[in-house]
Amino acid sequence: MKTYEKSDAARIMAAIGSSGHYDGILAPYDITVSRAHVAMLLDQGVVPPDAAARVLRELDDLERRLLAGDEPLDPEAEDVHTAIEQYLETRIGVDAGWLGTARARNDLAVTALRLWIRDQVIALRSRILALTKAMLTQAERHAATVMPGFSHLQVAQPMTFGHVCLAYAEAFLRDAERISFVLALQDECPMGSAALAGTGFPVDRSAVARNLGFRQPTANSLESVGDRAFALDFLSAGASVALNLSRFGAEIVFWSSQPVGLITLPDELVSASSAMPHKRNPDAAELIRGKTGRVLGNLHALQTVVKGLPLSYFRDLQEDKEPLFDTARTLELSLDAAVMIATLMEPNPDAMRRAADIAFVTSGDLADWLTRERGIPFREAHHLVTALVRLSQEQNCSLGALPLEARRGVDERLAFEEWPDITVETSVESRASQGGTAPRRVLESAARLRSRLVEF
Ligand code: ARG
Repeated sequence: MKTYEKSDAARIMAAIGSSGHYDGILAPYDITVSRAHVAMLLDQGVVPPDAAARVLRELDDLERRLLAGDEPLDPEAEDVHTAIEQYLETRIGVDAGWLGTARARNDLAVTALRLWIRDQVIALRSRILALTKAMLTQAERHAATVMPGFSHLQVAQPMTFGHVCLAYAEAFLRDAERISFVLALQDECPMGSAALAGTGFPVDRSAVARNLGFRQPTANSLESVGDRAFALDFLSAGASVALNLSRFGAEIVFWSSQPVGLITLPDELVSASSAMPHKRNPDAAELIRGKTGRVLGNLHALQTVVKGLPLSYFRDLQEDKEPLFDTARTLELSLDAAVMIATLMEPNPDAMRRAADIAFVTSGDLADWLTRERGIPFREAHHLVTALVRLSQEQNCSLGALPLEARRGVDERLAFEEWPDITVETSVESRASQGGTAPRRVLESAARLRSRLVEF
């Protein structure tokens, strides 16, 4: 059994309590908030001008050092906010102490985190838009490339590759919109809430909010310090992004498998098997799908942290950081990989055409035709075509090649001269309802999507 001494307690407390070794990511955001806070305190006459000037100068200097790749902050400090205050103290002594006036780590940490989320949303959104654009470009290029449309992974109806690419582009563009909502909802500044009840100093919360680019200050100090709904919104929008990426990854794995062979992935995005030299494993797509587990888990993790907490700050909330950092980093990587796949995948039109043209794939089209051109109610037309399919199988011919007399044998109403021969191409062209797979509709939808992309 491992043995413990009382003297171990402080070390263990530091180990469980410290986030300084990983929350340094927030240092630039702490500096931005601190600068706005001190500038406001100076304007309000709370901090003497010379002390404020020294603090501001050191904050600027620290920012420069961090940008230059220096690591002047103590990773063993309890957190990055403490590390920054300690750093300032080593530089300017007691004047550093003015920085802590009229604020607490509670409002500081949560404000810095909102600023960090803002940057992540902007960075992720631009990648999501790049992915949307890559799929849109494929769609425009392949508006008329026929492929099988699958349902239940069974070949269902002929479709165009452009239509399928647009389906993903639509979903991705909606993800870009969804992640933008996160910004709209978190657009209020918690600074001035202090520890939980506000502050007795004459702060100008609106000035700080404005300075940091928020629409207004938050309304309630108590709610502000314990609220992590904005972080959950980010994780939740991120989970939606991950889910769509995962489905895309799964599709790519399927399309690129050898017996399917609808697309070819470039060498850079596949790996060789260590045992079977002929294989081209779609690792990037599989990992996009696999990493979704962490992103969904991160949402669940923070939901669980927040779930039992009454109002105000609890130390539990420090556990918000790692899920957030991990989701942002994972999505960034996955989106980069997805953009490369979407851009570099090469559809194989011949294989697509062949796979679409399985026996009787246009039987549904024939039923539609009988209803449209011959006035036979659809349900009945469907029964008649089922009988015709059986007959074609017996006679080993296509539906279009069934002789008139044979058709008469099934039903008197099928005995006419101008019997259609529906190909996968005519099938695809006939599905011209708005949002349908007909090439002209695909081009029209693509143009609409392109104009929406410009709005971002
Ligand atoms: N680092 C902490 C967090 O991120 C903030 C510290 C507030 N600590 C406190 N004891 N009130 O949640």
